[in-house]
Amino acid sequence: MSAENLKKEAAEAALDYVKSGMKLGLGTGSTANYFIKALGKKVANGFDILCVPTSIASQELAKSLNIPLTTLDATSKLDLVVDGADELDEALNLIKGGGGALLREKIVAAASSQMIVIADDSKLVNHLGAFPLPVEVVPFGAGATIEMMKQAIKNAASSGAIRLRNNVDGTPFVTDGGHYIYDCALGQILNPKQLAQNLNLIPGVVEHGLFIGLSKVAILATATGIKKIEIL
Ligand code: A5P
Repeated sequence: MSAENLKKEAAEAALDYVKSGMKLGLGTGSTANYFIKALGKKVANGFDILCVPTSIASQELAKSLNIPLTTLDATSKLDLVVDGADELDEALNLIKGGGGALLREKIVAAASSQMIVIADDSKLVNHLGAFPLPVEVVPFGAGATIEMMKQAIKNAASSGAIRLRNNVDGTPFVTDGGHYIYDCALGQILNPKQLAQNLNLIPGVVEHGLFIGLSKVAILATATGIKKIEIL
């Protein structure tokens, strides 16, 4: 089965967790898009739901499908968010932000009682870090912030190149919040919790793509069916 079919399968399996009347966070990325499209079909059949998207892209997709939308200003607590991930381990530590939406994704996840990760099983790893860790940085003083990030990474016993994310035309990629993304190619993140804490202490770092303790359920599509990871 193709990776796209697996993503779609994982996304559709997550619909079982979505109950009528819920306030729901909508993730970002290709897997989350399959979820939003499947949800759109339910909404077209009269399903009652109110959603907060984690990016302008997801907002546009949801709008096009007539999915009722709100904001965290109007609705500060959500029942559930369903989102993809770039990497996850068996403890459900995640790397997110490959699509550049990590800040809104983390804000929505923190405002949700539950987060379900949907992915094809290629995203499951023994140790996080093969996927470069995205870090969202304020453009002002970015040079100084990068130096502090290098130290923070070293203090968490990791190392690797830090690269500004660019668009295809070579201009810096700018997030929905107006910030840069620096991708940290760390290879293996031995202490995700320590690294997350260290990065959080840097004033110019808005957020990073390590999601620790935010998700207790992952739905992974494999060639032989759905695999669930649940943390009790
Ligand atoms: C968006 O910023 C990311 O966190 C995505 O959730 C993540 O990159 C997974 O995307 P795909 O489902 O497209 O792999």
